[in-house]
Amino acid sequence: MQPVSEPNGRGATQQGGKERQNGKGNQHVEGDETLSGSRAAPAHDRPLPFLSIVHDGKAQGGALVQADQPWADAQLAALYDAFVFEDDLPLYLDLAREQGHRVLEIACGSGRVLVPLARAGFDVVGIDASPHMLALAQTKLGTSPNTRLIRADMRDFRLDKSDFDLAIVAVKSFAYLTEPGDQLSCLQQVVAHLRPGGLLAIDFMHPLPEWVAAAPGSMRDDLLQRVPDRGFTLSRVETVVSTDVARQVRIIRSAYEVIDDRGSIVAKRIVEWPYRWTYRFEAEHLLQRAGFTVEAVYGGYGREPFGSSSKAMVFLARKSATRL
Ligand SMILES: C[S@@+](CC[C@H](N)C(=O)[O-])C[C@H]1O[C@@H](n2cnc3c(N)ncnc32)[C@H](O)[C@@H]1O
Repeated sequence: MQPVSEPNGRGATQQGGKERQNGKGNQHVEGDETLSGSRAAPAHDRPLPFLSIVHDGKAQGGALVQADQPWADAQLAALYDAFVFEDDLPLYLDLAREQGHRVLEIACGSGRVLVPLARAGFDVVGIDASPHMLALAQTKLGTSPNTRLIRADMRDFRLDKSDFDLAIVAVKSFAYLTEPGDQLSCLQQVVAHLRPGGLLAIDFMHPLPEWVAAAPGSMRDDLLQRVPDRGFTLSRVETVVSTDVARQVRIIRSAYEVIDDRGSIVAKRIVEWPYRWTYRFEAEHLLQRAGFTVEAVYGGYGREPFGSSSKAMVFLARKSATRL
């Protein structure tokens, strides 16, 4: 399988990808009606706006959703969750083994990283802003005594524990913070929740010049994957809507289609959302301002050296071992 690395969080495998391992089957999760095929009331009973604009809240539906981040919308949360991506899991499992058993995942989403960590026996706390993503994660976890899921904003959270050995921000989740003040505030919260000597692993996209220069209307990603346990094929095409180079923010449009085995489109969902890119030394300065010492920057999940053509920038940054 050919992994496709991309900045909407994660890559995914191409058509014919692996069987899902989360055992989701036909379980009902909030917002999953479209995927299960059990449509709710007819459209005329529930008039929806064409355009739904969502800030820090719940999407109302509509053909086009404009959101701070796609997972404010229940259907999009379920669609994102259907893609399979596992390339980074060995890195996070190894780091957890190296650092200690208390792991905090920031923006844990539907549990792609958190669930394997919990199953490997680590004590995991996951925070995320999206109730829909957390509901999906909870379904996969069932009752898991060593795991807690908390709805919280990564810009400003306070947990009752501040002795985590390892914190993880996976698959470009930091890009949903579009203001430098929010980025710094998030990293300061992370440092406050780590034990002295604790480690942060954070995965940024490397903003290559050709990515930044992509013209409006150009396609920047195209994923197609069969989801065997749900009996459909999922397509996602992403295009550039606009790019504000001064703010380092791109508006991306993601168009998801659920296609049945006869080739009919069962559902289509379109969302426009902002993505903030961060340069290598900007990231280092931010981490240092927040109180971290950068130990490594890798160009990939196999701890490859970071270079000019690397697609990822994976930082390992450590909180000082000395209490200040
Ligand atoms: C690309 S998904 C990654 C989910 C998961 N970590 C994974 O690896 O699949 C990004 C996640 O960031 C969350 N998110 C975005 N902005 C957030 C914020 N301000 N605070 C907390 N979570 C946020 C979204 O709800 C979403 O679940």
